[in-house]
Amino acid sequence: MNQREVNIAVLGAGGRSQCIVANLLRDSNNKVKILSVFDPDKEVMAAAQERWQSEAKACDTYQEAIDVPGVEWVIVASPNAFHKEHILAAFAAGKHVFSEKPLATSIEDCEAIYEAHQKTNLKFATGFVLRYAPLYRKAKELLTSGKLGKLLSIDANENIAPDHGGYIMRNWRRYTKLAGPHILEKCCHDLDLLNWFCESVPTKIASFGGRDFFIPENEYMNEKYGEKTFATWHDPHAEKSPFTSEKDLMDNQVAIMQYRNGIRVMFQATMSNAIPERRMYFSCTEGTMVLDLYPSTLKYRCLGDEGVVFIDFGGDGHGGGDSYIMKELYETMIDEKAQPKCSGNEGLESAVVALCIDKAAQTTSLVDLEPIWKSLNR
Ligand SMILES: NC(=O)c1ccc[n+]([C@@H]2O[C@H](COP(=O)([O-])OP(=O)(O)OC[C@H]3O[C@@H](n4cnc5c(N)ncnc54)[C@H](O)[C@@H]3O)[C@@H](O)[C@H]2O)c1
Repeated sequence: MNQREVNIAVLGAGGRSQCIVANLLRDSNNKVKILSVFDPDKEVMAAAQERWQSEAKACDTYQEAIDVPGVEWVIVASPNAFHKEHILAAFAAGKHVFSEKPLATSIEDCEAIYEAHQKTNLKFATGFVLRYAPLYRKAKELLTSGKLGKLLSIDANENIAPDHGGYIMRNWRRYTKLAGPHILEKCCHDLDLLNWFCESVPTKIASFGGRDFFIPENEYMNEKYGEKTFATWHDPHAEKSPFTSEKDLMDNQVAIMQYRNGIRVMFQATMSNAIPERRMYFSCTEGTMVLDLYPSTLKYRCLGDEGVVFIDFGGDGHGGGDSYIMKELYETMIDEKAQPKCSGNEGLESAVVALCIDKAAQTTSLVDLEPIWKSLNR
């Protein structure tokens, strides 16, 4: 394949941006050139440039970065509430976009992004990195092969460690106005996978949730277990304590969902666990499959099988997905015919599910998603 150079602008140069852009440079054999970067934090911008060994133009506004002559693709890795503005500005300037997840923080904003993209011939990739992980690809292959029979029900969770939960409750993610609810900001990956595995969308959702752990009454835990238990993840702007920080996120939530095609799913999201787990249990008519992301393992057994098939994929915290997502993005950049695995549609549908789970918990009522899907022509 023609390994041509591709010029990019980068909006947001924090942790995720530094990682994915470094991977993009690596996976394109440095054929990708960063022409411009914008982050309101100049120190972060300088640190990113150093990590990328880049002499890109450090811009004062996102528009200036987008408008640097020669920019073909815009990488959006800003906090979630800014995605819409950044993506729409990039499309308006005729640029292809890779945006980190979630698409945006409201259904209206996600729809606006999706609609804007539909009106262009531009490419639009979204950062659902788990779709690229060999573990989940194998699960999808097994489900579609029919080997396990028909999928009846999934029990899934994302139960993160105390330092991860503490990080969320100390940085910008603790405000829904910047991040959206936790079930959107963090679990949109899992909800996207569930939609993908079910090959459908939920029709009804019930959920309960609240904030019962990261509350001022539990500040004593910092002393009991050591502040580092809840604050190992670095962020120069983070609050000191995740217990006393101002915030409006739920830290534990359960949801049950009925999909249009009859599949039933339950999902648990919690934020401080001595045994963290990100697992999916698939009950199918002729087999059972269990995926465990942290150890990157998959096991399954079909009715009548002697034993359980166990596959260990190894890989990083994203099940190895980070080894593939930027490689495929570069291929999408240079191959006119290649289309990204996940785009605005997946971003929109996963956001609708997340925001309806949040609504169900906020209102303690059963949410009927059909009017929303209808308004979105789905
Ligand atoms: N796909 C994944 O697995 C994954 C993992 C982590 C983060 N993310 C996503 O990446 C995005 C960034 O998260 P992060 O972990 O890098 O956060 P971060 O806090 O490390 O970095 C965010 C950066 O955005 C900058 N910023 C603030 N306001 C901005 C604005 N208006 N315009 C541009 N930049 C602005 C901040 O100065 C900061 O440097 C989020 O959307 C997050 O959900 C995705």
